[in-house]
Amino acid sequence: MDDKTTVIKAYKRYAKNYDRIFGKIFEHGRRVLVDKMRAEAGQRLLEVGVGTGLSLPLYPEGVSVVGIDISPHMLWLAKNYIHDGGADGTRHLSLMDAQQMSFADNSFDKVALMYVVTVVPRPDLMMAEVARVCRPGGDIFVLNHFSNHRLIPRMVEKAMLPFRNLLGFSPRFSMEAFLEENPLQVVDTCQVNLMGYWTLIHARNI
Ligand SMILES: C[S@@+](CC[C@H](N)C(=O)[O-])C[C@H]1O[C@@H](n2cnc3c(N)ncnc32)[C@H](O)[C@@H]1O
Repeated sequence: MDDKTTVIKAYKRYAKNYDRIFGKIFEHGRRVLVDKMRAEAGQRLLEVGVGTGLSLPLYPEGVSVVGIDISPHMLWLAKNYIHDGGADGTRHLSLMDAQQMSFADNSFDKVALMYVVTVVPRPDLMMAEVARVCRPGGDIFVLNHFSNHRLIPRMVEKAMLPFRNLLGFSPRFSMEAFLEENPLQVVDTCQVNLMGYWTLIHARNI
C-alpha cells in the first residue's frame, strides 16, 4: 500500500467487520503457521500485524507472545483476547509500526507475519526490522498470498491492483522478488487456505 496513513484508514474501515470477512477464510493458514512454529514454554514470539488478534488463542500457554499493529482500531479489538482468552500474563499488545520497531536486537526466538507483507508500505524495511529483532538462527514465518502465475487469477489480480489502497492490500506481490530482496534462508513452503491460494514460508533468520 502507498503509505501508513492509507493503511490506518483502510483498517479503520475494516476493523468492525474484519473477523466476519477474514476470520474463517484465513483460519487454516493461521492454524498451520502456529502449528509449524512448535513454540515451547519460555520462548519469546513476535506477531507482526496482529490485527484483531484472531491468532492469539492459538498459541500454546506459557509462550510469551507480543503482537504489534499500526492500526489502533484493529488492536483495540485484539484486547478482547487478552481479557477473555484465558491469558496467563504472557500476551502483550503494542501499537507500533513494523517498519520501525522499538524492540532491542535479538528480542525474539520466532516471528510470525500473517497476511501483512502485502499491506505494509515498505516490506523491505519491515523485513529488515524483523531480521534485527529476531535472534540469529531464529524462525520467521511469512503467510501471504503471492502473485499467481496462472492466466485467469493473474488477470483478476492485475485488474484489482489500482484499488489496492481501498482494498487494504496489494493483490500482486511476487514471492520470488520478495525472497530475493530479503535475507531469509527458506526452510520450506506450503500452500494453505482455500485451494492453496496462499503460501506459508518458513525461513531461518541469517
Ligand atoms: C490483513 S490484516 C491481517 C491481520 C491478522 N494478522 C490476521 O491474521 O487476520 C493486516 C494487518 O497488518 C497491519 N499493518 C499494516 N501495516 C503495518 C505496519 N507498518 N506495522 C504494523 N502493522 C501493520 C494492519 O493494520 C492490519 O491489522
